Amino acid sequence: MAPREVSQDLRARVREELPEIQEIQDLELRDRVVEAWATALARSSFNAISEIEPSGNPGVNTLRRGAQTDHIRGVTRLAIRMAEELSTLLPDLKVDRDLLIAGALCHDIGKPWEFDPENRRRWEAAPRAAGSPSIRHPAYGAHICLTVGLPEEIAHCATAHSGEGELLVRSLENTIIHHADYAFWAIAHAGDLLVPESVLQLKVRH
Ligand SMILES: [Fe+2]
Repeated sequence: MAPREVSQDLRARVREELPEIQEIQDLELRDRVVEAWATALARSSFNAISEIEPSGNPGVNTLRRGAQTDHIRGVTRLAIRMAEELSTLLPDLKVDRDLLIAGALCHDIGKPWEFDPENRRRWEAAPRAAGSPSIRHPAYGAHICLTVGLPEEIAHCATAHSGEGELLVRSLENTIIHHADYAFWAIAHAGDLLVPESVLQLKVRH
């Protein structure tokens, strides 16, 4: 897919789809989150986050109803509440709220790449050429974050919210995001919100 220009329309669409962006106090960080999502979309076949299949991985843990935005927003809202509730009881817990929100909003920012139907067709046709997928969404997400100038703390949330994070030490904010992410899918599964054939019982990587 030839990259498109990052247009104002695309930026406006991202702000509309992810209203939690307004919760970020640092205006530069807020703009960079918008830029990161708009850039990820512009380099894919998708025109909106809601066009991406509502799954954890392609074909895995797929919501019966709803959109990928429900996942991103759900994880962000869960992460905020987890931090707020525990900080109230345990004042020694110092969570950087802006980094937590930006990190949660960007944790799956690599999905436009991994879920892109054009990429998937290419990988499935020749899995031994560039790999299948060539790059999972956590690694591609870190690439997007660093490309638009987001801080390493946010790139870390993209690259290590998932199973990849078992290979390193997660930051405090990313630990919350990781658990919010896995809680989202576990609760959706328990609440019968997932397409049964899409549920992986033994191993989830998100
Ligand atoms: Fe996720």
